[in-house]
Amino acid sequence: MAKRGPTYTCQACGAVYHRWQGKCDACGTWSSLSEEAQAAPVPGARGASGGRPRGRVFALEGLKGETQDAPRIVSGIGELDRVTGGGFVPGSVLLIGGDPGIGKSTLLMQACAALASAGRRVVYVSGEESTGQVRLRAERMGLSDAPVELAAETNVEDIVATLGQGPRPALVVIDSIQTMWSGEVESAPGTVTQVRGSAQALIRYAKTSGACMILVGHVTKDGQIAGPRVVEHMVDAVLSFEGEGAHAFRILRGQKNRFGATDEIGVFEMTGKGLSEVSNPSALFLAGRDQAAPGAAVFAGMEGTRPVLVEIQALVAPTSLGTPRRAVVGWENSRLSMVLAVLETHGGLRLGQHDVYLNVAGGLRVNEPAADLAVAAALVSSLTGAILPPESVYFGEIALSGAIRPVSVAAARLREASKLGFEAALMPSGGAEAGDGDGLSLRRFGHVTELVADIAARAPRRDAK
Ligand code: TYD
Ligand code: MG
Repeated sequence: MAKRGPTYTCQACGAVYHRWQGKCDACGTWSSLSEEAQAAPVPGARGASGGRPRGRVFALEGLKGETQDAPRIVSGIGELDRVTGGGFVPGSVLLIGGDPGIGKSTLLMQACAALASAGRRVVYVSGEESTGQVRLRAERMGLSDAPVELAAETNVEDIVATLGQGPRPALVVIDSIQTMWSGEVESAPGTVTQVRGSAQALIRYAKTSGACMILVGHVTKDGQIAGPRVVEHMVDAVLSFEGEGAHAFRILRGQKNRFGATDEIGVFEMTGKGLSEVSNPSALFLAGRDQAAPGAAVFAGMEGTRPVLVEIQALVAPTSLGTPRRAVVGWENSRLSMVLAVLETHGGLRLGQHDVYLNVAGGLRVNEPAADLAVAAALVSSLTGAILPPESVYFGEIALSGAIRPVSVAAARLREASKLGFEAALMPSGGAEAGDGDGLSLRRFGHVTELVADIAARAPRRDAK
């Protein structure tokens, strides 16, 4: 039998050591180990006493056979259902992470109210706020009449026992997993061991009862869901709720989903009466666009199956530093370096004495290489002072050779641009899939030199060097 004594658990990744050390070997974090009593064995697991484990014999199945599609619990909040892959799956566990104050509790209360009003049993357990506070928020959002069952509790055994009473709930929200503690785990609440133990108990309840469980998780400064990363591995889906403090809109993004795609986003706007859905995010991201300034290009991007137009802003300014600055918000740093290198090598641009700032307007995070062309156009425009034609969208991937390569779903991108009143699209010359361009005039480029020449021709005289 394993020796039981104090162990040291990394509070960042959950790795366990028998001796204290300054740095966690598993994740490299310093001073993250803290002493915890060893987790008790999972109750019901046999064989812990050293005897030969005696198991129940179960039937094995083949790959082929009848399996019903997981029936979904549709919340009715379209943007939420889109990210979960068409609704909550009974018996599944979902972890939703996000910065404090971003609106997790608000979103989940709205989902609870919608389901409860549709006649399902919904339980909302808050470990952070009193029932009074939760009630007050619901009242502000005009949801007081929804028959959501409310509790302010933190002990998982009590919660599971309470949930066992009455009919099986369709949805249980635990806000948040970091506040939960289990009597079966001998360490202080808030520690990794406790969070893991509590999550285990709650997940076991969800799997055995068939209720859908949503766990709220806090996010640390570097964007990880605080506490053990292992909780992320234990659950069926991980969603993150993001947003910029200065902007009213919030983006719900799938990071892992056993029952759907992870590239879909849901867009919400925080209003005085809770979160409202944004079904046309492009219009939102393009609002307040300054069309008369150089350094801005509209990128026709895709988020999952949905096209999203967003403005890419660049500022290229002479530097006063020995090593010029490169700062990026909303895009990959390494991708910017690559585009800059291509523009210098193949486009003939001199950027070594310039600071470069790149920003994706509205706080969206763009992950697509298809944004290369829009980024390049914004950079060249800012450097030369040439204002890009205002009614144009850009998309295309730039290869290291300077070639502009076709990207997927061009037709959907063009349709969205046309819908929003754009007149032209600057796109790669290859790729057949564009269709008739939806009334847009299509301008195709095969190499960055063509793009640079095109933009430089629009530059004001003083800059034509
Ligand atoms: P909350 O859901 O409590 O955030 P989280 O659970 O992620 O910590 O949201 C709190 C913020 O949302 C708070 O700063 C106020 C704002 N808010 C509104 O603007 N309108 C509303 O109707 C509600 C309920 C909250
Ligand atoms: Mg909250």
